[in-house]
Amino acid sequence: MQEQKIKKIALLTGGGDCPGLNAVIRAVTRTAILKYGYEVIGYIFGYRGLYNNDFIPLTLDKVSGIGHKGGTILYSSNKDNLFDYQVEENGEIVKKDVSDVAIENLKKEGVDAIVVIGGDGTLTSARDFSRKGINVIGVPKTIDNDLPATEVTFGFNTAVEVATEALDRLHTTAESHHRVMLLEVMGRNAGWIALHSGLAGSADVILIPEIPYDLHKVAEKIEMRQREGKKFTIIVVAEGAKPKDGDVVVAKVVDDSPDPIRLGGIANKLAADLEKIIKNQEIRATILGHIQRGGITSAYDRILSTRYGVAATELIHEGKFGNMVTLKEDKISYEALEKVIGHTRVVEPDGELIQTARSIGVSFGD
Ligand code: F6P
Repeated sequence: MQEQKIKKIALLTGGGDCPGLNAVIRAVTRTAILKYGYEVIGYIFGYRGLYNNDFIPLTLDKVSGIGHKGGTILYSSNKDNLFDYQVEENGEIVKKDVSDVAIENLKKEGVDAIVVIGGDGTLTSARDFSRKGINVIGVPKTIDNDLPATEVTFGFNTAVEVATEALDRLHTTAESHHRVMLLEVMGRNAGWIALHSGLAGSADVILIPEIPYDLHKVAEKIEMRQREGKKFTIIVVAEGAKPKDGDVVVAKVVDDSPDPIRLGGIANKLAADLEKIIKNQEIRATILGHIQRGGITSAYDRILSTRYGVAATELIHEGKFGNMVTLKEDKISYEALEKVIGHTRVVEPDGELIQTARSIGVSFGD
């Protein structure tokens, strides 16, 4: 570990935005200034700002009043991988490694350490900058909750709260019309948001990527409820869910994104498929989309983000670079970025939460 005296630190937020980013920015900035007297700057639009040397000073004033707000005052991009960056050369668009430009910018501004707040893609670059000798600390962000080494990423709780509220609202209208209501939630290839919101929102069926579903089993559950006098059914489906004999539904391909596939639309497909089997009940699908990422941050996420932000600054003070802050058994800790990158944490199909849901009669369509 180096003995370098830290004077100035930087922050950036990368990837899809997520409730709690501002709370992390606030916590890092306040701890850095109030406890350690560091100067703090924030790069604009993630790594793109680092490449363009586009930053703002982060002062106590600048981070005042942002703790509860979703989004990020530093803006974010999920397209700018500086190790494979799109630039124009001799009138042609080419991809090249421009990480040295970023490193020069950090040196020019006298930045001693950088806090990178992001998910797998953003933290992969953080690890790569760390390999090139930059003092990096990672903070795990994603509503998908799919990063390893930490029990929870910030933003997940808010997304679950939003999805749960949506299920509560769908419940009353489903009941009024005796309908089957499908709610599609985000999460990429992990079913965490669907599983947690489905449990909290008393869903009858929860469909997740980790347990491919059988359409006929889903229909059986609806019919069983009808026979029991329950004339409505609530189904929560993760955007990455897929039938046993089929594949995920892709909403769009974002070519210039490092992870170009955008999932979405499985609820509409499922509604159409079910309509062919269920004749005496109407079916409606709702895709919750980015509402899960916007608005006000939940109290849990505000606290978690603050803990992560403070811990990240402490790691800088202690010179423990190349690490990501984590939560393990509700205690703040850290893990080497080298160990974190490249692994997705998905739902265990036989895990305790799945068993709990099965015990109360929830169907996973299997
Ligand atoms: O990773 C967060 C997330 O919201 C996923 O749940 C979702 O699949 C994806 O990002 C959506 O990406 P975009 O904001 O590019 O549409």
